[in-house]
Amino acid sequence: MDRGSSGAARRARKHSTSASFVLNVRVSSAAISLKVDADPGTVASHQAVSIGPIVTELVMNSLKHAFPKEKKDGAIVVSYKVADANWKLTVSDNGVGKLDLSASQKKGGLGTSLVQSLAKQLDAQVDIVSDPHGRAVSITHATFKSKPIKSA
Ligand SMILES: Nc1ncnc2c1ncn2[C@@H]1O[C@H](COP(=O)(O)OP(=O)(O)OP(=O)(O)O)[C@@H](O)[C@H]1O
Ligand SMILES: [Mg+2]
Repeated sequence: MDRGSSGAARRARKHSTSASFVLNVRVSSAAISLKVDADPGTVASHQAVSIGPIVTELVMNSLKHAFPKEKKDGAIVVSYKVADANWKLTVSDNGVGKLDLSASQKKGGLGTSLVQSLAKQLDAQVDIVSDPHGRAVSITHATFKSKPIKSA
């Protein structure tokens, strides 16, 4: 630990991220590949503690729900793209995607609420795309500098 840094400096410490790897996970008898494709980037500690559980929940969802039956080429991809202060985290899979859900299931469970509230803390938007070929959940933090409106 660097004893010299102040409390404020420690709180604001940034965490550097950059990763790209593929992992093979075995759920029951099916092998599912997990690919991580992350841009190099830096996030503050308070952002990192929100991003971590989002990734965990979404990857767990893919493992739990996307592959109810054995699938040969089952894959989960975690992607993190950065451009200046903007970033986009996407967790996608090629599983069953849209299911015929009952009204209570459509509302989502605790995981959905967790992701929504952590995204809110990050000032980010949640988008879900789901079809019979899979599901992708994106968390986007976009900052747009608004230009002053000129009067005619
Ligand atoms: N990757 C996915 N593929 C297919 N269906 C999914 C996927 N992720 C979520 N779902 C569906 O959306 C529902 C809501 O997900 P949510 O994470 O909110 O709840 P849960 O995973 O069932 O329970 P919890 O997260 O609280 O442990 C799931 O029950 C499942 O039917
Ligand atoms: Mg869940």
